[in-house]
Amino acid sequence: MKALVCILLLLETFVFVVQQQVDGGLNENEISQQISSEDGRQNPPQTDTLRAEASTDRQQYCDLGIPDIHAALRELTATVTEQKGHIRELTATVTEQKGNIRELRVEMNKKNEEISNLTLGQEELRKENRDREIAFSASMMESGKGYIGPFTTNITLTYKNVFTNIGNAYNPITGVFTAPLKGAYMFRVSVFDLGGSTSTAYIVKNGELVVMANDVQAQDRLSSSNGVVLILEVGDVVYVRLWSNTRIYDNENNLNTFSGFLLFPLR
Ligand SMILES: *[C@@H]1O[C@H](CO)[C@@H](O)[C@H](O)[C@H]1NC(C)=O
Ligand SMILES: *[C@@H]1O[C@H](CO)[C@@H](O)[C@H](O)[C@H]1NC(C)=O
Repeated sequence: MKALVCILLLLETFVFVVQQQVDGGLNENEISQQISSEDGRQNPPQTDTLRAEASTDRQQYCDLGIPDIHAALRELTATVTEQKGHIRELTATVTEQKGNIRELRVEMNKKNEEISNLTLGQEELRKENRDREIAFSASMMESGKGYIGPFTTNITLTYKNVFTNIGNAYNPITGVFTAPLKGAYMFRVSVFDLGGSTSTAYIVKNGELVVMANDVQAQDRLSSSNGVVLILEVGDVVYVRLWSNTRIYDNENNLNTFSGFLLFPLR
C-alpha cells in the first residue's frame, strides 16, 4: 500500500515536471535536475515552498528501495522530450504540405481554366468553320430535256437540279445566291445549245452584269463558259440571266450549270 502511494506521488512529481517542461520548454538536463531536486537528493527549488514541503513529505514517505523508478522517470522524460521534438518536426512538415496543397490547388484551378478556355475556343472555331461552309452547284433541269428560250427580254435562269447546296445560300426556286458572310467567292456559269443559234448567259451581281458566257454557231453544238471571283458583302446577290432572243438546250447530261463557293471570308 505504501509503495503504491509512493509511486503515485512520484508520478505526480513527474507529471509536474513534464508539465513545466511542456509549458516552459526546459531542456532535458534541466528536467533531470529538477527531478533530482524534486526527489530530495538536492535542495528543493527555492521558488515553490509548497512544492518543497510536498517534496520533503515525499522524501520521508518514499524512502523506499525502488531505485529503478528514478531511472525510469528520467528515461520517460527523455522520451517525452524526444517525442516533443518529433511533434515539432511533424507540425513543420504538415504546415509545409498545407502550403504545397494550396499552391497545387491554385495551379490546378489555372489549368482547369485553361482547359475550359481551350474547349470554348474550339467550339467557337468549329462554329466559325461551320459558318464558312458555303458551296453550291446546280444544273438547269431536274428531268427531261429541251430548250430554254428564246425570250423577248432577259430572264433570270433558275437552275433546279441541285447537286450541292452547303449552307443553303443558293435558292433553286428563284435562282439567286445570297452571300451569308463577307468574303471572296468564286462563281462559274456554262451554256450549251444544239446549234443554229446564239447562247448568251451572264453572271449578275446586285443587278449588274459581271461576266458573260456567249457563243454563236450556225450549225453543230455550241458551248461556252465563264467564271469570276467576287468580293461580296453580307446580303449581296448573284444570279445568272439569259440574254433576250438567245436560247440554251439541256438534257440529262446537265449541259448548263451554275456553281459558286466561298474561297475565304473577309473582315
Ligand atoms: C480564360 O479566358 C478568359 C476570358 O477570355 C481570360 O480572361 C483568362 O485570362 C483566360 N484564362 C487562362 C488561364 O488562359
Ligand atoms: C439585257 O441586259 C443587258 C445588260 O444589262 C442590257 O443591255 C439589255 O438591254 C437587256 N436586254 C433586254 C431585252 O432587256
